[in-house]
Amino acid sequence: SKRIPVIAANWKMYKTKDEALAFIFAVNEKVPARTEVESIICAPSILLNLLVKREGENLRIGAQNMHYLDEGAYTGENSPLQVKSAGAEYILIGHSERRSYYNETDETVNLKMVAAFKHELTPILCVGEVLSERESGATKAVLDQQLEKAFLNISAEQALNTIIAYEPVWAIGTGKTATPQMANETIKDVRAKVAALYGNEVADGIRILYGGSVKPDNIKVLLEESDIDGALIGGAALDPNNFLVFTEAA
Ligand code: G3H
Repeated sequence: SKRIPVIAANWKMYKTKDEALAFIFAVNEKVPARTEVESIICAPSILLNLLVKREGENLRIGAQNMHYLDEGAYTGENSPLQVKSAGAEYILIGHSERRSYYNETDETVNLKMVAAFKHELTPILCVGEVLSERESGATKAVLDQQLEKAFLNISAEQALNTIIAYEPVWAIGTGKTATPQMANETIKDVRAKVAALYGNEVADGIRILYGGSVKPDNIKVLLEESDIDGALIGGAALDPNNFLVFTEAA
């Protein structure tokens, strides 16, 4: 397909400075060309500047969260300006762990989307249903709602430059992967919603990733599906050799 695949590692709250450096030195020279695959590490904010300084030419660095305001009295938070000035190019927005543990709502997700584009950060927008929603047949309605709200006040051009990560919450860190067919069908629904919001051109160009227990032994079958443009990977991407397996599979 004409869409450049994306492999994004989400380190979550893992890795010290030394561990982060060891990882980056292990993969720097081996990551495939950025014209072939967009290889991204979403790191804890405290490591961003270090990683940006050491990243090889084919790696890109993202943050995992930010506030939506440029500055203010918000102890412990990082602003979009700070993320940008650390040299990060991407920002995860609305990860399910943020939504469930830190009261991230569709409204704050939207404010962060707007803030990301204001500061020329590429958002990786996370959406997904919980198990009870999947089981009650509400998945499509849940995703439609998350997408509609996330893209409020976002232009078509900005939408095209968004990366969406579809992560069924029941598949995150559980070892339960959605089947490639199920993931692809749901991602087709996501793409259809983007088409409804912005038209076919944006829907055809936007990259939509799958996330949730992606491993070296299932990455290939997932990426073979028509509408899965890459993966957002947690646990399995903490290992540099695995990370290279993922980038090479894309
Ligand atoms: O952001 C990544 C997802 O939460 C997936 O995590 O690969 O450890 O299941 P996982």
